Amino acid sequence: MLTLTGVGKRYPTGDRALTDIQLSLPKGQVMALIGPSGAGKSTLIRCVNRLVEPTQGSIRLEDVELTKLSGSRLRHARRSMGMIFQEYALVDRLSVMENVLSGQLGYVGFWRSFLRRYPQEAVAEAFRLLERVGLPHAIDKRADALSGGQRQRVGIARALLQSPKLLLVDEPTASLDPKTSRQIMRLIRELCAERELAAIINIHDVALAQQFADRIVGLRAGEIVFDGKPSDLTSEMLTTIYGEEDWDTTPEPADDDDEESSGATSHVTSPQAATAPHAPRQNRLASGGAQ
Ligand SMILES: Nc1ncnc2c1ncn2[C@@H]1O[C@H](COP(=O)(O)OP(=O)(O)OP(=O)(O)O)[C@@H](O)[C@H]1O
Ligand SMILES: [Mg+2]
Repeated sequence: MLTLTGVGKRYPTGDRALTDIQLSLPKGQVMALIGPSGAGKSTLIRCVNRLVEPTQGSIRLEDVELTKLSGSRLRHARRSMGMIFQEYALVDRLSVMENVLSGQLGYVGFWRSFLRRYPQEAVAEAFRLLERVGLPHAIDKRADALSGGQRQRVGIARALLQSPKLLLVDEPTASLDPKTSRQIMRLIRELCAERELAAIINIHDVALAQQFADRIVGLRAGEIVFDGKPSDLTSEMLTTIYGEEDWDTTPEPADDDDEESSGATSHVTSPQAATAPHAPRQNRLASGGAQ
């Protein structure tokens, strides 16, 4: 349903962020995009929703060529892509409900949204979504009174309110603790399955990517160097993506693991979690290299 052909991006500064990206994402597939800092992960997802203009290639969402759109046709196409950001991008002084309803901006128009007049069916759907993401009791709370995990749930509900076909997710767990990170990834995964949504999730945590994605794509210096099943991501492949590191002996930080500290309440739903190769929990060593 999403096809990138020969996509390239060179920023005006001369930085070549993406080179000849070929990628096809079927309906319902959850894809994790991994790679060191500066590899081009954010650039790739921003090219898809045209927050960044690709300088080469074609990006098709179903039968629409996204790179050629402008004005109202571009706005219309963007509604079919839900964006979820690391920094949650909520309006702090607004309530949870108002933040979710702001996902309707593209539909109801700026003034109606500014005056906070939303269609009744949008309000009803926002209620349903807040229930689904586990926040039915926080509807009237101000966004700045929420924890990071709760804020991310609001961000997810907001992205879903516009009934997208595709989710573009940029480091959804970067500011969250390990257990909350897993809960958020599990929630995104379940919602994709329920709604047959495809998703591209930029993520630094390889173990999380392996546990929750159907497919992993590894970027290095703007090029795809791995595209395969989570179980095919070997230590050698991690070296190809991130550079030299002894992945098998990277110690897991003892105070950073929810399974030990709260084993009774953590859930491991994916068999991959148990069988995954010795990927590091967090690629701290690998990040920061290429920027
Ligand atoms: N607005 C910009 N102007 C110029 N160069 C940019 C811009 N945004 C990104 N770049 C460059 O493009 C390359 C890819 O950056 P990008 O932010 O896509 O990487 P990333 O994989 O998302 O990194 P991170 O993991 O740190 O978020 C980098 O070399 C970066 O310096
Ligand atoms: Mg990024």
